[in-house]
Parts: sequence; structure tokens; C-alpha cells
Amino acid sequence: MSPQPAAGVPAAAPGGADACHVIVLAAGRGRRMGGARSKVLHRLAGRTLVGHVLRAAAALAPATTTVVVGHQADAVMRAIGTGPRFIHQTRQLGTAHALMQAEAVLGGLQGNLVVLSGDVPRIRPDTLHRLVAAHAAAGAAATVLTAELARPYGYGRVIRLGGRFGRIVEESEATPAQKTIREVNAGVYVFCLGPLFETLQRIPEAGPRRERYLPAVLSLYRRRGLTVETAPAGDADEIRGINSQTELAEVSRIMRQNKNEELMAAGVTIEDPATTYVDDDVSVGPDTVIHPGVTLEGNTTIGARCELHAGVRIVNSALGDDVTVNNFCVITAARIDAGGRIGPFAHLRPGTTVGETARVGNFVELKKATLGPGSKANHLSYVGDATLGAGVNVGAGTITCNYDGESKHRTTVEDGAFIGSGTQLVAPVTVGRGAYVAAGSCVTRDVPPEALAVARGRQQNKPDWASRKRRLGKRA
Ligand code: UD1
Ligand code: CA
Repeated sequence: MSPQPAAGVPAAAPGGADACHVIVLAAGRGRRMGGARSKVLHRLAGRTLVGHVLRAAAALAPATTTVVVGHQADAVMRAIGTGPRFIHQTRQLGTAHALMQAEAVLGGLQGNLVVLSGDVPRIRPDTLHRLVAAHAAAGAAATVLTAELARPYGYGRVIRLGGRFGRIVEESEATPAQKTIREVNAGVYVFCLGPLFETLQRIPEAGPRRERYLPAVLSLYRRRGLTVETAPAGDADEIRGINSQTELAEVSRIMRQNKNEELMAAGVTIEDPATTYVDDDVSVGPDTVIHPGVTLEGNTTIGARCELHAGVRIVNSALGDDVTVNNFCVITAARIDAGGRIGPFAHLRPGTTVGETARVGNFVELKKATLGPGSKANHLSYVGDATLGAGVNVGAGTITCNYDGESKHRTTVEDGAFIGSGTQLVAPVTVGRGAYVAAGSCVTRDVPPEALAVARGRQQNKPDWASRKRRLGKRA
């Protein structure tokens, strides 16, 4: 008899005692960043700060995920998209006040709440797992993630009493002696939900802006006889909070360096790692050579043995093996199949596909266009809303006239067709298989397969016209 599948094994109930909930504090403006943009919307390796935090938090497979939004709430919610639930903090009155806004959705629940800061983007999933495990193992009511920093300036310092956690003192309130403490609060915590919201209510206002500081809840817990523990972060870098543009640039540099090292270890040649910008999710095949000043963004994939010359920017695109991209090309949401050669100075816009061994030369712009295998568009062309077959030759200066002021129309060029230089293809129009279009034509009607289309004014030569004009001019 075959074994029956276990029927209805319940997962941990979302509101049960074992449940793990996550909340991310992301309502602050980030005054120290300067500018108006919400701090958590700044980007690091292609992802927003809060996006990094949510990605790490997802590894905990939380029962619920909540994000507290406030400054530029709409933009923050748009950037995050669907998934978490949003709670509003209309006035930014401190980290404890931010957490208090979630009472309506989390109050009364059992289990643990992992609290993350939206501006601590490098926090690692395994660190979060360890933090939750340490919290459970100690049977603590709260556990705070800490790290030893060489430069602890700006962070809340951990004050220990007889080796055990005592309280956290913020930079602004620390005495000179406390400022020398290098163990800091990472701004990441686990709380048993039971006593949390009722204790948050008791946090007094503090500091120059009369905020309610979340670390104060730890002192209140201790006063109530609840256990507060600490857990160490994996390394000092991962808990770095981003509070200024300088810190953003520093962390960005560290991430870039890590990504470049990872690629180099996998056999990619990076001529100048200091000027090579590769987002987190980008993959690059072995023996690909990346020259200085190249930027690879989003979910771009690059095949093996490619060569990306200086000044190239590639966004959300897929390159096959053995593709060459010459200097100063911009490639967005495009696909280039194996052996393709692009640029220099080419612009491949969204919806472009370049077939195997096809060539796109200088000052050529492609948009929603397919260039079939072995086809060439080598010089000074605009090809938009077009399907070009295999082995097509697009002469210099060819333009698809795809827009009539109201709608876009398609151009089709079938396999093996030859488009002479300086041709305008007025869409909708089809050039048949193997047909020729004479240079300088303005093609407004379909060209049958194997035909020659000549669509230009006939040339007239007027003998001696110039010298006669000059003679007449002198007499006047
Ligand atoms: C905080 C901690 C500090 C810790 C550091 C770690 C407090 C009072 N201090 O300081 O002990 O060492 O993080 O990085 O918590 N936020 C809101 N609403 C608010 C205020 C802040 O949602 O009213 C959010 C911010 O958007 C940010 C996070 O909370 O994502 C932390 O706030 P921030 O002002 O950066 O705190 P720090 O001064 O860095
Ligand atoms: Ca911070």
C-alpha cells in the first residue's frame, strides 16, 4: 500500500505563540541625508534601502510583515509594492512612537516581533535567524542585536552592568566616558509581543525633538523583571545604518567591491573594479571582460566570453555568450543573442531583440525592434516598432517612420532583404523576402518579395546651369 500524504498538517498559526512577525520602521525623513527624498528610498546596488531590509526579512518567512511609513509615504509604498501591510505614522515622533502605530494590527497577538530599521540595509538573513534563535534559547522578552564598531559615533551605546545588558544610551545623551563604548545597538530587535505595546506607552519623551526612543523599552522591560538579552551581529559592516550621503556612498562602495570580487572569483575579468558598477542581482558568465566605467543594472544577465567596453550601461537586459558591446552604448530591457556586436554609441531601447551574430553599429537606435540572426544595421539609423528577419542589411541612415502623430505602426522586413542607404520606411509597410530598396527611397507601399523598389525623385541634370547663374549675377 502506498503511504497516504499527511492530511492537513497545520503550519504554525499566524497568530500563534510560535509565530514570527516582522515590522520595518521606515517613516523617518532622514534629515541628515539632506534633500527631500525619504531616506529609505535611496538606492544601494540598484535596490532601495528598505527593499534590502525587506528582502533579508523575507528569509524569516514571517507570519506577517508590516512597514511603518510616514515621510513620502506614497512614494515609499509605491517603491515597495504589494506584499507587506502598511501602517502610517503621520508625525515622526521617534522610533518607539513609530512602533506604537502598529498596535492596531499587532496588539493582542502572540509570538515574536522582529523590529528592523529601514536604514540598516545590509542586515543578513542568517544574522536574523541567529537573533531569533538566541531570543528563543534564552527565553528572553527582548533581544537586541549588537556589534562592536571601530567608530561607534552616532549609534546608541550598550551599557552593561556586571557583563549583562543594562540599557542603551543614545549618542546625543552619552557622557564622554559612555562615548568610548564600542558596542552599539544595531537598531534590530526581537520582542515577545505579549508585554510590548503596553510598555511602549510608558516611554517618556527624550532628546531635543522630544521623541520616544525605542531602546528605552529595553530599560522598562528590565525594570519590570523581564529578561533582555543581546545577540552579536555577524560582522560590523552588516549593521551599518545609513544616515548621510557619505555613509550611503561608503556602504555602496563596500557592496560594489563585494559584488566585483564575487564576479572575479567566478572568472570575470574586471579591468578597473573601482569604476565598475554591478547591481546585486546581475549575473556575468566566465571569461567575460569588463572595461572601465561599465554599469550593469537590475536583473541583467551577461553570458560567457562577452566583452563590454568602457562607458557601457546595461539595464534589465539579457546578453548571450560572445557578445561584444563597444564603447558608450545604452541598452535597456533588450536581448542580444550569442555573437551579437553592438556599438559604439548605440541605443537599444525596451523591447529590442538582436539575433545571433547580428550587428548594430554607431548611432543606431532600436526600439521594440527585432533584428534577425546575421542582420546588420551598422550606421546612423532609427528602427522602431519593426520586425526584421534574418540576413537583412539596413543601409546607413535608414529610418522607420513609425509614428503618424497618433499611433505607432509596424515595419516588417523579411529575410535577406536589402535596404539601401537613406531609406525611409513609412509604416505600416512590409519589404518582402529578398527584395531590394534603392538608396534614398521613401517607401510607402509594400515591396513584393524579390522586387526592387525605387521610390525617389528622378534626377535631372541641367548643363551649364551654374556658370550661367554666375554670369547673370555679375551683370546685375
Ligand atoms: C537608532 C537607534 C540607535 C541605534 C541606531 C542603529 C533610536 C532612538 N536609536 O538611531 O540606538 O544605534 O538606530 O542604526 O531608536 N523612524 C521612523 N519614525 C520615526 C523615527 C525613525 O519610522 O519617528 C525610522 C527611520 O525611518 C529609520 C529608523 O526608524 O529607518 C531609525 O531611525 P533613525 O532616526 O535613523 O535612528 P538613529 O538615530 O540611527
Ligand atoms: Ca539610522
